[in-house]
Amino acid sequence: MGGLWAYLTGGAGPSGFGSRSTAEDVTAGIDLSSKTIVISGATSGIGKETARVLAKRGAHIIMAIRNLQTGEEVKSAITAETPKARVDVMKLDLASLASVRQFADEFKSRKLPLNVLINNAGYMSGKFELSVDGLEKVFATNQIGTFLLTKLLLDTLKTTAKETGEEGRIVNVASEAHKYAYKGGVVFDKLNDPSRYQSNMAYGQSKLCNILHAKDLAKRLKEEGSNVTANALHPGVISTNFGKGQSFIFSEAALSLVKFALKTVPQGAATTCYLATSPQVNGLSGKYFKDCNVHPYLSSYANDPELAAKLWEFSEEFVSTH
Ligand SMILES: NC(=O)c1ccc[n+]([C@@H]2O[C@H](COP(=O)([O-])OP(=O)(O)OC[C@H]3O[C@@H](n4cnc5c(N)ncnc54)[C@H](OP(=O)(O)O)[C@@H]3O)[C@@H](O)[C@H]2O)c1
Repeated sequence: MGGLWAYLTGGAGPSGFGSRSTAEDVTAGIDLSSKTIVISGATSGIGKETARVLAKRGAHIIMAIRNLQTGEEVKSAITAETPKARVDVMKLDLASLASVRQFADEFKSRKLPLNVLINNAGYMSGKFELSVDGLEKVFATNQIGTFLLTKLLLDTLKTTAKETGEEGRIVNVASEAHKYAYKGGVVFDKLNDPSRYQSNMAYGQSKLCNILHAKDLAKRLKEEGSNVTANALHPGVISTNFGKGQSFIFSEAALSLVKFALKTVPQGAATTCYLATSPQVNGLSGKYFKDCNVHPYLSSYANDPELAAKLWEFSEEFVSTH
């Protein structure tokens, strides 16, 4: 009765939840009316479902998104289902540092508290592209934009945690694809070489970064005694808009081959919602979760604190010079 059997049958792990639990299941009975939650990429797939369910539980949701029109449509759908839902739509393009800074400035000007930051947005590309800041775009979006967003919102998270006495949380939506990072070494300063570009590797490495970022952040927050945690997760494999037209792996044809193992979108949003809200994870930080339970099996790269420190240094240097 190993992990695969438990996954396929939806058997619950120690948390009482498993692969078939939904975002509604894991948040049942949790009152989020005192919480403000920022969710990046809340226009589609996992982020959209996360926004819907957390708004239904009473949280004030800030949808940090790049397409305002789609954002307003999602907001309307949420308020149609939950008339009392508190949802704001704010522009954020993670592939542009200027946009991330503008989002953070606008968020701070609203003088809102911040209890939970969900770094959900993700990007993958079938071809080599540069961001407006001149960095390979998948890494720029998934790591550098997310790193800067987190950095700029961290003070608000810490202050809110201090003032309310309630733990702040940072939740990074990573992926098991972190295991497909470039073989032969993770080298952040060689990303801008188009001849080296492979779409699945670029994506995998950026998701590895989401885990390393959460782990290093957790260490730093612990050292300074902040009441804020940082964790990463794999949501499962879910047919969303993700990677469509960019990679065979995410095509409907490929996903149909593993249909038996796919999660629905409500199941795909469960681990995010669990980590964002469950009292069971109070005090847990720097961990990697799968199917709403701590998952200990990470790649050697993801368990490498020196690599995490190197990534931090590279990211810090990039955002401070661009
Ligand atoms: N689906 C899976 O099987 C799977 C597996 C493992 C991990 N994940 C991770 O789960 C997360 C959510 O993916 P999903 O499956 O829900 O995919 P999705 O339906 O494609 O949603 C991705 C979201 O990210 C947003 N986004 C992309 N680039 C952005 C940018 N530059 N700035 C701001 N937002 C941006 C998208 O905005 P637009 O609507 O404007 O495009 C969309 O809202 C991603 O981090 C992905 O890596 C997914």
